[in-house]
Amino acid sequence: MTNFKSLVSGVGNLSKTTKYYDEWSENYDATLKLWNYQAPKKSIRFLKETTNIKPKIILDLACGTGLFGTELKKVYPKVHIYGSDISKKSIKISSGKKIYKKLQIKNFEQLHHYKIKFDLISLIGSMTYCKNFDKLFLNINKNIKENGFFIFTHRVDLWEKQNFSNILKAVNNSLKIIKISRPINYLPLNKDFKKKIKIRIVLLQKY
Ligand SMILES: C[S@@+](CC[C@H](N)C(=O)[O-])C[C@H]1O[C@@H](n2cnc3c(N)ncnc32)[C@H](O)[C@@H]1O
Repeated sequence: MTNFKSLVSGVGNLSKTTKYYDEWSENYDATLKLWNYQAPKKSIRFLKETTNIKPKIILDLACGTGLFGTELKKVYPKVHIYGSDISKKSIKISSGKKIYKKLQIKNFEQLHHYKIKFDLISLIGSMTYCKNFDKLFLNINKNIKENGFFIFTHRVDLWEKQNFSNILKAVNNSLKIIKISRPINYLPLNKDFKKKIKIRIVLLQKY
């Protein structure tokens, strides 16, 4: 039985997080529907309102069961989406949805090796799990095209605790801030998150 309390306080180290999402994978989509998870849809709306990007190739980090990939395909049906995640069982589910061109079991803090560079890299609902921002941003910088975009969401409570604005300032020499959303609901129908814990959507662009 998944312990949803730890979603707020943190699941733990990499192997605990992997196990947690492996165990949850089969019920993940149904649970998030119940909690009215809107980060994927809202992130795409934010992207479309902020840029006139028509991405051909996207890397969806921490893609999980493919909820963001599914929304991407609705808006950009011809796009090629590559995905990665540490949870093998979640990857298996996203693979079954046939929306990803290529899927890898990989930590987003490890360098991903692709021959191509991406128009857009995403990290939706998952910045919570980042332990080493330098490594994550290194991975992004290596794999993003010049003028390409990085879109992610981050919890407002963690943003304040981590002094996340300083982390964004530190990467500003390679990734400039295009827009940061106001705080928006994350999991409004989950009793621990409700309207208490919100997220921001952030769009960065490579110089
Ligand atoms: C809340 S889910 C979000 C999944 C998907 N992006 C979505 O919007 O539904 C968090 C995901 O992050 C993945 N994850 C956590 N830490 C990770 C890491 N270091 N590298 C790659 N994936 C990670 C988990 O396995 C899980 O699939």
